[in-house]
Amino acid sequence: MEAKGIKGFKDILPDDIKKWHFLEETAKEVFENAGYSEIRVPIMEFTEIFSRSIGEDTDIVEKEMYTFQDKSGRSITLRPEGTASIVRAYIEHGLHADPQPTRLYYLGPMFRYERPQAGRYRQFYQIGVEALGIDEPLLDAEVIMMLWHLFERLKLNYLELQLNSLGCKNCRPLYIKTLRNYLTDKLPLLCPDCKKRYEVNPLRVLDCKREQCINAVANVPGIFDSLCPSCKKHFDEVKGYLRELSIPFVVNQKIVRGLDYYTKTTFEVISEKLGAQNAVAAGGRYDGLVKDLGGPPTPGIGFAIGVERTISLFKNTPPEQKPLIFLASLGNSGQAFSMKLARQMRDAGIKVELGYGDSLKSQMRKADKSGTGYVLIIGDEEIKKGSAILRNMRTKSQENIPFGSVFETVTKRLRPEAQPEGLSDNI
Ligand code: HAM
Repeated sequence: MEAKGIKGFKDILPDDIKKWHFLEETAKEVFENAGYSEIRVPIMEFTEIFSRSIGEDTDIVEKEMYTFQDKSGRSITLRPEGTASIVRAYIEHGLHADPQPTRLYYLGPMFRYERPQAGRYRQFYQIGVEALGIDEPLLDAEVIMMLWHLFERLKLNYLELQLNSLGCKNCRPLYIKTLRNYLTDKLPLLCPDCKKRYEVNPLRVLDCKREQCINAVANVPGIFDSLCPSCKKHFDEVKGYLRELSIPFVVNQKIVRGLDYYTKTTFEVISEKLGAQNAVAAGGRYDGLVKDLGGPPTPGIGFAIGVERTISLFKNTPPEQKPLIFLASLGNSGQAFSMKLARQMRDAGIKVELGYGDSLKSQMRKADKSGTGYVLIIGDEEIKKGSAILRNMRTKSQENIPFGSVFETVTKRLRPEAQPEGLSDNI
């Protein structure tokens, strides 16, 4: 048997996980400070939840879903995105009865059978938010501001926020008509997929990444001329708030998104540092989705961040937050002493790594690699003398500390502000 993972499914190894934790923790803090609560939904739903939400004619539903029959013959799908599941849960648990907006955030794996390439996986992670129950443009601006704030907190530069409006069920058909008229002449130039899209959903042609289609739609009429007065006012107000909040954006009338539930405001955050898969986050309004899934008419807006793409933009590994000490010890009594000390220090919130191996030299090499600031050395000699050696790895200076005050001294050295309790008497 070959120990080999599935194509497009990635392991996240300990060397990388610090970046993941940093992103997850920063996002949680930003979202919770804005009144969002975490929701955890299953990674599978009845297939219909996704096909009805995302749209039967989208690439996701047509080609990319991991769908199978369970043992009772029901069609089940691994979630390709989070919004549909969140809306399902919102309806199922009657969250619309709570004061609105309902503000939710979520994180976890999503599954799409896409062609794997840099920045595109078959299992990938999203961190997303959904705010339901309010249709005011102010909420659009608040949601976008929160996303922008998160990227600022992550110190990511060179990002561009692109904004569009897709209109509503009243005015979008007019644009689709205009678009189809425009594309009629260009039909021979389009790729085979877009020839089909022309019939079923010509908006999708604007999203095609093939050069021949990009060229064919270069001078396509924009959607703004087709927007109804209410959609136009909504979009103008969103832009006005963003300007007031000094959030830079560009309008891109070609953002149509690959999911059918969007109405009015849509947006993407693009990084010029990424290759073809350059969207780090995307979202928009979906004012018809709750009703489409069987709930009361309820507006909603949200976004999802692509975790792998965002992390690929981090230049450095975030610094270790917790103080770390490495205990290098030899012999039964030295190791037993270290073990007891480790437990006491861990209780006090200090990260303690124990050295294993039969020479102090090899343990010191491991300590060096661990990035620790201090090593406490307890060899046979130290046991005899009743004191340990504390080595500062940066200055290379060493001091002897009697066993009775090791815990207190080390804790103070690592966390000067800490008030150690349960001192060394028990060691
Ligand atoms: P989406 O544009 O399909 O929107 O995905 C959001 C983000 O997930 C993308 O911008 C990208 O960063 C990341 N992503 C998507 N597919 C992959 C992939 N195969 N590999 C790696 N990263 C990927 C949604 O999913 C909507 N549910 C967003 C939303 C929430 N709209 C309203 N609320």
